[in-house]
Amino acid sequence: MRMPAVSSRFTLALIACAAAGAAHAATVAEVASPDGRIRVELDVSGEGRLAYRIARDGKPLIGDSRLGFLLRNGRQFLRGLELQAQASRSVDDTWEQPWGERRFVRDHYNELRVQFAERDHDHRRLDVVFRVFDDGVGFRYEFPKQPALDEVQIAEELTEFAIARPATAWWLPAYEWNREEYLYQRTPLAEVGTAQTPLTLRTDDGTHVTLHEAALVDYAGMNLMKGDGGVLRASLTPGSPAKVVRRVPFDTPWRTIQIADRAGGLVESNLILNLNEPNKLGDVSWCKPSKYVGVWWSMHLDQQTWGTGPKHGATTANVRRYIDFAAKYGFRGVLVEGWNTGWDGDWFANGWQFDFRRPTPDYDLPGLAAYAKAKGVHLIGHHETACAVSHYERQMDEAFALFEKLGIETVKTGYVCDAGQIERQDVEGGPVIREWHEGQFMSEHHLRVVLAAAKHHIAIDAHEPIKDTGLRRTYPNWVSREGARGQEYNAWGRPPNPPEHEPNLVFTRMLAGPMDYTPGVLSLEGRGQPIGSTLARQLADYVVLYSPVHMAADLPEHYARHMAAFRFIRDVPVDWQETHAVNGEVGDYVTLVRKDRNSQDWYLGSVTDENARTLEVPLDFLDAGKRYEAQIYRDGDDADGLTEKRFSFVRETREVTSTDTLTLTLARAGGAAVRFVARH
Ligand code: NOJ
Ligand code: CA
Repeated sequence: MRMPAVSSRFTLALIACAAAGAAHAATVAEVASPDGRIRVELDVSGEGRLAYRIARDGKPLIGDSRLGFLLRNGRQFLRGLELQAQASRSVDDTWEQPWGERRFVRDHYNELRVQFAERDHDHRRLDVVFRVFDDGVGFRYEFPKQPALDEVQIAEELTEFAIARPATAWWLPAYEWNREEYLYQRTPLAEVGTAQTPLTLRTDDGTHVTLHEAALVDYAGMNLMKGDGGVLRASLTPGSPAKVVRRVPFDTPWRTIQIADRAGGLVESNLILNLNEPNKLGDVSWCKPSKYVGVWWSMHLDQQTWGTGPKHGATTANVRRYIDFAAKYGFRGVLVEGWNTGWDGDWFANGWQFDFRRPTPDYDLPGLAAYAKAKGVHLIGHHETACAVSHYERQMDEAFALFEKLGIETVKTGYVCDAGQIERQDVEGGPVIREWHEGQFMSEHHLRVVLAAAKHHIAIDAHEPIKDTGLRRTYPNWVSREGARGQEYNAWGRPPNPPEHEPNLVFTRMLAGPMDYTPGVLSLEGRGQPIGSTLARQLADYVVLYSPVHMAADLPEHYARHMAAFRFIRDVPVDWQETHAVNGEVGDYVTLVRKDRNSQDWYLGSVTDENARTLEVPLDFLDAGKRYEAQIYRDGDDADGLTEKRFSFVRETREVTSTDTLTLTLARAGGAAVRFVARH
């Protein structure tokens, strides 16, 4: 990956400090964002407790929030700490994404590193590092190498986020059986239960804040639980023998606080990516952003099955049909689920039966791979583990080698089982230990998979994954994940996804990273239930929900009935030069615009909740002085995403420039998609 040298400023100051031995809390260190709007202060109380607080524009945003740990194998790290030293530096760099929602990312922050040690006992040491950007704050703990601490077993991380103002929160419950697949709740902050991250808040003065984490590596995922007052405190996902077990030295993931004046500012923030390590895989040009079709929706409609038998979807003849369809309409990938042995019977319970190297007898894997290759198409592999994770790890190297030989570039993995039911078996034939999808064991498992796949130049799209924390920067073959309710809920979900789902996702789950939502069901019909969406909205999802791999999820015979709308799905790219949020409110509506990385064209996607609305969109994002043909895919004048009128749809074209304003009229549960074709 080429790194354009922009500017890099680096200053370091090491100041030895006297102990903060005063009876009351003393501010011992502070750091501000490059634009000066965000200020972080760090306190040590008289009894040696650490706390941080954050103000923005001089007003408290996060009040005194404690820092520390409970350990299973030692005394807590909480009291009796004193400041040893502090150092600060400033960084202003720009780096390039191999693929992404924007090509260049500015990494501009002021950093404060503070070293603490216990006054008594073993003088154990703990560092805290803050990075303050214009779009928020990241901080992490670092356990330095030290004589009195070889291994830490973390019982709980005591990090707090004391939200200083009344706020509305958008959040998903944590520790529920269905993992991340819940509907977003919108409640006053005071009514937040135990929540997953990203969790988004809007304070009473209109400031938007998202709490999440970056670079979750060899550590337990963080949830948030309500403490006293407006305090949200960390609740690490369980593991055994402790939530986290690490040799010292090590660093925790970054705790992230994205801050923006408007909801769209959260979408434009690069804070999470910036807090991840640069690409460790080198040249990843083999990782190709692309769209795919496949044997998938038919199973969710219950027209076909994963298991063998009369309704088996992964048959040679059926997959040939999909390859032909992909070749005809320019899709690079064809996903095939149910291709391998092990699905027969109750596959949810049979994870240990899966063989990832053996196709079913009615599926000619090498023949189909060759057939696809001759047509410029690539099969997409599928590894559903049903949570028999150790069983999968024993096969994955061979399975990836097989796929590589067949020209398969992407593998969708899956971890279907209830939360807390991941099966880990460290020794073959030994005891099976149950783990959580978001625990330390799985943070390591996913990286083992991603690295094993990288050796074979294969990209990973994980379903029922651990949450995204920006690791695609470090491992760019980890291209996408599910990790929220996707389109499949529109097939069989009770209830299906409500119209506010996408405007919720954009400002919550999508801030973590790409999502394999599987959009584009133009038949607007699930398993005997209507999909609450207009046709135009299904198109808008391709722009609104970012992923470098996007599926055209519907059946070929359904697309045949909607060729005008299907045109947009064929045209829309999945790799972008730039991305902007032109408007939006969490859970209500959003309009995103993105510039294609491989042409001069721009694309717009807009979706609304259960309310129809008219949005004025100034086209000032377009390149000045250029003329464009706007190919507009919009709701018909009588469209209504919540009735039979959901199919009412118009495609029209107009000449526009950057000085024009486009009026979007969105139906209930509606949307709009526009391609701006640059005139030469
Ligand atoms: C759940 C995934 O989200 C879905 O896409 C897949 O079809 C099934 N598991 C089977 O693996
Ligand atoms: Ca709403």
